[in-house]
Amino acid sequence: MQSKREGAVIFSGIEKYAGIKQALEMGRKEVLSEVRDSGLRGRGGAGFPAGVKWNLVAAAQSEKKFVVCNADEGEPGTFKDRIILTEYPGLMFEGMIIAAFVSGAEKGFLYLRGEYKSFLPLLNRVLGQMRKDGVLGKNILGKKGFNFDIEIRLGSGAYVCGEETGLIESLEGNRGEPRNRPPFPVNTGYNGFPTVLNNVETFINIPHIVKKGAEWFKSFGTEKSAGTKLLSVSGDCKNPGVYEVEYGITIKELLKIAGATEVKAVSAGASGECISVSQFNRKICFEDFSTGGSLIVFGKNRTMIDVAENFLKFFKDESCGQCTPCREGIPVLLEGLILIKKGECPKDYLDDLFSLSETMQLASKCGLGQSSPNPFVSIINNFKSEYKLSKIAKKEKVFNG
Ligand SMILES: Cc1cc2nc3c(=O)[nH]c(=O)nc-3n(C[C@H](O)[C@H](O)[C@H](O)COP(=O)(O)O)c2cc1C
Ligand code: SF4
Repeated sequence: MQSKREGAVIFSGIEKYAGIKQALEMGRKEVLSEVRDSGLRGRGGAGFPAGVKWNLVAAAQSEKKFVVCNADEGEPGTFKDRIILTEYPGLMFEGMIIAAFVSGAEKGFLYLRGEYKSFLPLLNRVLGQMRKDGVLGKNILGKKGFNFDIEIRLGSGAYVCGEETGLIESLEGNRGEPRNRPPFPVNTGYNGFPTVLNNVETFINIPHIVKKGAEWFKSFGTEKSAGTKLLSVSGDCKNPGVYEVEYGITIKELLKIAGATEVKAVSAGASGECISVSQFNRKICFEDFSTGGSLIVFGKNRTMIDVAENFLKFFKDESCGQCTPCREGIPVLLEGLILIKKGECPKDYLDDLFSLSETMQLASKCGLGQSSPNPFVSIINNFKSEYKLSKIAKKEKVFNG
């Protein structure tokens, strides 16, 4: 049975359509300033300021604009968006409607993870009711010329389609292969038009910010991470579930709430850091222990090298293969990890693997390749007692390639 913890912002309660009504009263410029001043940062992982993104799309001169909600939720250990999608979809759609109002978009898409197909009847019912209530469609709530509607499109199970440009390719009906950035979606998004693309959780914060104000929002969290965060807590703990916590909470505090004892490690998902007990005083926020939403707990009986292997295998399967550092680098790291597991990896070869990791972080085309070495690097660095290196130097050993 999963737990749910309702915190001070996202699940704080707000009257239906109060955010949209408030936005219409305030006008575009004021809403944009409020979102910018709130310091809201994207909740999909990268933490880009939502206000900056929205201002760029609002300022763009274009005959068409789009709003896209990223509900791909493919990161291993992440299941926080599904709570919003199933329990608060209306509020998330309200966030998209406000984005459309300030940016001038007339069409929005919810890009829904294929595995969440069963949510479609509910989501379509909510959209239907919103059309009846006049918050979707033409002249929304009587505001002449404010026209906007939302269509749901299903993904097909590729992790890389959660990456914003891969997602846009997929929306356009192409293979979900990430594009070079720049240009960014704010300039060249869906079908080449300026596009506001945000995570489900980012959008659900919006009605609260518009109704209750930037100052109220900033009173939660830390200086660089305003507000609260939804965490999907899983693994070796008594109370796995979705928790809304204030940014700045320590890992130690969170583990206590989740009923996790005898913990060896905590990971911020496959693409995040994996840390040991000595770092459990770190704070969950963008400037310290950053997570898009995943928090996986590993108990004392787990073998961390196996965890790294598992994550690397996931990346190997999910790499789209477009660029060399990611396509070729991940299998090399995986082979290296197998050597480490067998105690056959010399120190100088491990140095080569770290150097390769750096190249992948710098030279991969998208975030998948860039973050794929994270579990390898952090587990090898933080769990040194779990493996032994070979004493034979690399030049004395024969490696493939
Ligand atoms: C491989 C990969 C998968 C991603 N998956 C998701 C996802 O499932 N949901 C999401 O919101 N962002 C995901 N992102 C981040 C998006 O590219 C993008 O930064 C985000 O949707 C922007 O919204 P935000 O600014 O509100 O966070 C992923 C990125 C990468 C590199
Ligand atoms: S980094 Fe990996 S997933 Fe991203 S474009 Fe390159 S090959 Fe594809």
